[in-house]
Amino acid sequence: MTRAPGPPTAPGPPGAPRAARTSLTVLGIETSCDDTAVGVVRGRQVLSNVTSAQPVHWEYGGVVPELASRAHLELLLPALDAALAQARADWAAVDGIAVTRGPGLVGSLIVGVSTARALALAHGKDWLGVNHLEGHVWSVWGTDPGWAAPCVCLVASGGHTELLHVLGFGRYRLLGSTRDDAAGEAFDKAAQLLDLPYPGGPEVDRLARQGDPRAVNLPRALLREPGFEMSFSGLKTALRLFLERNPGLSAQGRADLAASFEAAVVDVLTAKTLAAAAHAGAPRIAVTGGVSLNTGLREAFARRAAAQGLQLAFPPPALCGDNGAMIALAGAERLAAGERSGDATSVEPSLDEMGFFEPV
Ligand code: KG4
Ligand code: ZN
Repeated sequence: MTRAPGPPTAPGPPGAPRAARTSLTVLGIETSCDDTAVGVVRGRQVLSNVTSAQPVHWEYGGVVPELASRAHLELLLPALDAALAQARADWAAVDGIAVTRGPGLVGSLIVGVSTARALALAHGKDWLGVNHLEGHVWSVWGTDPGWAAPCVCLVASGGHTELLHVLGFGRYRLLGSTRDDAAGEAFDKAAQLLDLPYPGGPEVDRLARQGDPRAVNLPRALLREPGFEMSFSGLKTALRLFLERNPGLSAQGRADLAASFEAAVVDVLTAKTLAAAAHAGAPRIAVTGGVSLNTGLREAFARRAAAQGLQLAFPPPALCGDNGAMIALAGAERLAAGERSGDATSVEPSLDEMGFFEPV
């Protein structure tokens, strides 16, 4: 058997489809918040995805920025080794490095970007700073490598609730976002009020499965207003007031409350996303970010998208929350187009400063 000459590639997992030889093998580093994450992709095929959570924050009920940067320093090199080993790749097989440049916590971003730059220098690789939101948008390639614009993408996580009109790779218009708390933040705060452990989203999800979502009527802010702005802080307050007025709630009462809270968040997210798709004339919607793991949200989107004849995609579970593979996926696309970061490139904590969106 003769082999066609081509760039060095690492063997993929057994049974994985052979990627086109033009696909770059890219290592992605994500340290924008409290997950230390590294993934390796070849083109749009995920070869590995290693995410180390930072339990140090759990006792505080939220992320402590200084502790996050220190934890990234400890966790990043082991995560890098594990991601390369799981991809069965060595540095010779890596064509480039992608790293989250922003938005995020400044100290955490600095750890990721300085590590990427040092590795690029040491191993003679190209590197590129990537926008964290672009990683979330294209994380659906982990499910459907053929996923393409135009689409509307909801990014819902602990730090973001953004509705984007995706016109093409690299072309995004911001249609709406939350005015106050992010959807994941609302879940985490609800969990705290319900005395559930941090991070609370998955706990509220579990409890909600045993409850009646129509039991307690909670507010759905801006639901009937035109536009795509959202707000979740009033909902959190309503939950707190309900708990104050109903001390000694039974186990079933708590489950009903969790289900009612989840239903309120899900109603707003689905209604605004579907309205945005109709407004943009988009035939498909992508739902991404940590909150896209929510069971009720997935069910509601599946039902409502099907009713409107819209194509729907979620990332695979490992690519919903912050992860390195999504940064590698977006980075691979940009590196393949010839983009590189220069020596002067640094971190950018603020989304507004990143020039990510086209004017609507
Ligand atoms: O994307 P992600 O890992 O990190 C951020 O960028 O914040 O999202 C984490 C958020 C947390 O607020 C967490 O509570 C929420 O996603 N989350 C969930 C679920 N799993 C994670 N929220 C609701 N239901 C879930 N099953
Ligand atoms: Zn994120």
